[in-house]
Amino acid sequence: MNDSLTRDLPTEADTSALGAALARSVPQHVARALRVALRGELGAGKTTLVRGFLCEWGVRGAVRSPSYALLEWYEVDVRRALHIDLYRLLDPEEVQALGLRDYDAPSTVWLIEWPERAAGTLGEADLTIALEAGEAGHRAVLSASSPEGRAWMRSIE
Ligand SMILES: Nc1ncnc2c1ncn2[C@@H]1O[C@H](COP(=O)(O)OP(=O)(O)OP(=O)(O)O)[C@@H](O)[C@H]1O
Ligand SMILES: [Mg+2]
Repeated sequence: MNDSLTRDLPTEADTSALGAALARSVPQHVARALRVALRGELGAGKTTLVRGFLCEWGVRGAVRSPSYALLEWYEVDVRRALHIDLYRLLDPEEVQALGLRDYDAPSTVWLIEWPERAAGTLGEADLTIALEAGEAGHRAVLSASSPEGRAWMRSIE
């Protein structure tokens, strides 16, 4: 079974468009939050993808990078998106203080920058998107780790 998908992202708009495609096809009727791990170095395009996702959902105005607050919360009708940026997390234990359990609910998507800083305390990602800014341009490699994640990835293939 092919459980990964590679996309070249020649421009910033392509990174946004990937986020938008994911936003259009979020798996429905899942009894918990769906987790998207956004991996990649500084400047790889993680926040750009989140902005594309939220814009597609109709979130208007500035999408702030939640580096200091660690998370920002968006509610669109019955859907919810949590933008988490753990760059400034000092200790995986700090994740407990964020109270994420309250956000582990249906119709909710967690978009997580720097997920590795949480050292697994967030639960396994449904979808991992590894972004890189190489010499030949930006690129994304998607991989799925749950049936929901696989369906999600297929829907944007
Ligand atoms: N596909 C792309 N091609 C060229 N530039 C891009 C692409 N995607 C994003 N960028 C640009 O890369 C820069 C950094 O993007 P972004 O802030 O999304 O990175 P990030 O991964 O969130 O970084 P950080 O780890 O610092 O939060 C931005 O100026 C953005 O416009
Ligand atoms: Mg960022």
